[in-house]
Amino acid sequence: MMKHANALLVSLLIVMPCSLGWAYPWDQDMVDQPSEKAQESIAPPGPGSVPINGGETVPLPLTESQASDMKDAAAAIESPVPATRESIARGRIFYETHCLVCHGAEGRGDGLVGQKFIEKAPVDLNDPYTQDQADGQLFFTLTRGRVKMPFYRDALSPLERWDVINYVKTEFGDQ
Ligand code: HEC
Repeated sequence: MMKHANALLVSLLIVMPCSLGWAYPWDQDMVDQPSEKAQESIAPPGPGSVPINGGETVPLPLTESQASDMKDAAAAIESPVPATRESIARGRIFYETHCLVCHGAEGRGDGLVGQKFIEKAPVDLNDPYTQDQADGQLFFTLTRGRVKMPFYRDALSPLERWDVINYVKTEFGDQ
């Protein structure tokens, strides 16, 4: 009981000075900040606050043959992320979050969702078809998707996509 009374006293001692301090100068900061009020015109954005360049460097293909040409051309894209243990560990988490449902834990294309694909199953990521592709080509697939395969440029940042590629290349592949 005594303990509780002490705790109450201590919290009162802390809370009271704070509640007396309503009139500190910085209490007005939120009110005084430059902001748009209703009916006011929008202030022009500061220089550089709206990015107009940068972002995705992999363009959008419009036809199937364009997609295949562009995937081949993407072979020239160099990975900026070396396949370190850390990168592969991150890639595993991203793979298990985004790819496993279709491609399966072992990359065999037999994930629970993958089994529902009738026309074309998700590829077996262990096959040379994927393993022999340049990292840049896989980057193209992850960025732009592939027929029934969704794209990942919104769910994974470019660096995260390279982590997934490092994981797929080191953990899968029937040697
Ligand atoms: C919704 C199911 C689905 C998900 C999720 C998925 N894939 Fe796929 N993936 C497919 C299908 C289906 C194909 C075969 C596409 C085709 O050729 O029509 C494929 C093909 C591929 C290919 C071969 C592309 C090529 O060169 O033809 C790679 C590599 C690949 N997936 C990697 C991944 C990775 C890595 C992830 C996670 C970031 C992922 N996939 C997530 C369904 C999926």
